[in-house]
Amino acid sequence: MNTLHLLSPDLNSTIQIGKVFGQVLPRGSFVALDGVLGAGKTHFVKGIACGLDEGGWAGLRSPTFTLMLSYHGGRCPLHHIDFYRLNEAPELPGEIVEAMNTDRDITVVEWASIWREVWPSRHIAVHMEVLDDNRRRLVIEDNAGLKPQLEKALSAWAIEPARA
Ligand SMILES: Nc1ncnc2c1ncn2[C@@H]1O[C@H](COP(=O)(O)OP(=O)(O)OP(=O)(O)O)[C@@H](O)[C@H]1O
Ligand SMILES: [Mg+2]
Repeated sequence: MNTLHLLSPDLNSTIQIGKVFGQVLPRGSFVALDGVLGAGKTHFVKGIACGLDEGGWAGLRSPTFTLMLSYHGGRCPLHHIDFYRLNEAPELPGEIVEAMNTDRDITVVEWASIWREVWPSRHIAVHMEVLDDNRRRLVIEDNAGLKPQLEKALSAWAIEPARA
């Protein structure tokens, strides 16, 4: 199996998990994030930005209205995209198509499953599930050959697949 199951007991843990995840990501990574409204996707991206040493990570906001926000202060550029407001089969602006296929930067998309057809074949899908007010289950599906590194780095939060 190429999946990892993690439990985040609270908001800070999600940011911490995102941070460790971000530290493991090589340049060129594409991360597809899914989960209901308020699952914690944007806070997970904050963690990734923190892991890339992006100094402005705490102020990172959802790109819902702009489609994409890019950060250049970390160890490599980070593009944060949100598909939530995409209409069916839209023409994506060139800069977004470029970010989706980059081999130099790191690109993370919220509500990524709205448009799976545009995902690159090498990707990591992270599904965030709400268990209760504070607990979230994260299912990470690795399609980028990073499972050994991710498993080692994220072992503190690992749970058995069936456990809540
Ligand atoms: N363990 C947790 N991980 C992440 N967020 C949590 C957790 N526990 C509680 N929360 C709360 O859940 C909310 C998550 O908000 P966030 O904006 O990150 O969600 P989102 O998935 O990006 O939502 P949207 O689909 O609207 O973009 C915040 O209000 C946060 O305080
Ligand atoms: Mg969000």
